[in-house]
Amino acid sequence: MQLQEWTMEEQEQLIHFMTTNTWPYDGHTHPGRDIIEKAIEEGGYESDEVKTFWVENEKNIKVGIVKIYDLQEDIPLFDLRIADRSRGQGYGPKALRLVAKYVFDLPEKKIRLEGHTRQDNLAMRKTFERAGFVKEAHLRKAWFSPKKNSYYDAVTYGMTREDFLEGTTTPVVWEDDEKKVEQSLRRSLVEVPDTFESERLLIRAPKLEDAPELWNAVRRSRQALQHWLPWARKNLRLEDTEENLRQAIAHFVTRKDFRLHLYLKETEQFIGVAGLHRVDWTIPKFEIGFWLDTSFEGNGYMVEAVTRLSELAFQDLGARRVEVRCDEKNAKTRNVAERTGFKLEGILRNDSISVDGYSLRNTCIYAKTEEAIE
Ligand SMILES: CC(C)(COP(=O)(O)OP(=O)(O)OC[C@H]1O[C@@H](n2cnc3c(N)ncnc32)[C@H](O)[C@@H]1OP(=O)(O)O)[C@@H](O)C(=O)NCCC(=O)NCCS
Repeated sequence: MQLQEWTMEEQEQLIHFMTTNTWPYDGHTHPGRDIIEKAIEEGGYESDEVKTFWVENEKNIKVGIVKIYDLQEDIPLFDLRIADRSRGQGYGPKALRLVAKYVFDLPEKKIRLEGHTRQDNLAMRKTFERAGFVKEAHLRKAWFSPKKNSYYDAVTYGMTREDFLEGTTTPVVWEDDEKKVEQSLRRSLVEVPDTFESERLLIRAPKLEDAPELWNAVRRSRQALQHWLPWARKNLRLEDTEENLRQAIAHFVTRKDFRLHLYLKETEQFIGVAGLHRVDWTIPKFEIGFWLDTSFEGNGYMVEAVTRLSELAFQDLGARRVEVRCDEKNAKTRNVAERTGFKLEGILRNDSISVDGYSLRNTCIYAKTEEAIE
């Protein structure tokens, strides 16, 4: 599939395409020649603001057309049309991915790409979803149909530059209550580095390509981890790890949760995971969670990582409180918390069920607060 730029010399072909196919959700379901000619004349298909492309399939057959407009703005829009006989063959989503690539590759670094459609245009809505767009608005009675002389609901989909670059699909957070609005505001003001270092470690945000080494480390360490981490009891497949990584990446980008992967600077080996979880931006407070590939135990790596992470939380993210929570019997984790200066604030009796589901367990709450590190 490719997009091939339309030029004025192909005026007749464009008129033919637009007048011989049907556009059931448009104002003009069968536009006449005069309408298209007028639109071309007025720069509706080619100008500083608008570019039109043929959508060509693998055999270079023209199966559709896409108009990208508002090209002088930071946020372009588009209009995609696949020919009647070529619909239902998967061309729509593929073409839309090419449109996104074209727009986000432009040197001006466009902020987002946006499209609107009628609520009942299910093919277009699926096309948006398949291409990684997110539904961002539902506008009641916002789409006039002259044929029916009535108003339909309209929907808006968008893709952000970040989502395009990361290959993620970040859902809209509908934050209507005050506490959440405050959280979201704070979240958006904070800069979170995605790579940083400690003496021996490189600490960075997760990437999809980390899946195989992460999966192998989990498998190697399963025996030890399964006493404390419920997910380690499952026989995880590589696909499960990939799925879980996708979520972690999306959460990192949207600043909901910060999972970080740990590497030895010297050998670049992956050694484990540590992260800032259960984020509450209203305080702000975080909980540090971690696990180490068992083959790297006994070198003080996790003490080093947790020290660096709590530094990041207090100094860069404005934390007022950072916690470590663990099972009372999890001696290794308690040791890390104590060696990194966390204070045991209390033990919650019968607070959880053991991962095997057979007994009640006590939870230790360790914390550092802003006052304590000053
Ligand atoms: C909307 C359009 C671009 C989609 O392109 P397409 O090549 O037909 O899309 P696909 O064949 O890949 O179908 C996309 C998805 O929609 C589904 N779909 C198609 N027609 C559907 C329908 N009538 N009802 C429900 N789902 C439908 C397909 O099954 C597919 O979903 P899947 O990925 O789960 O299988 C194309 O149909 C078109 O040009 N329509 C007319 C112009 C138009 O409405 N443009 C939008 C202007 S805002």
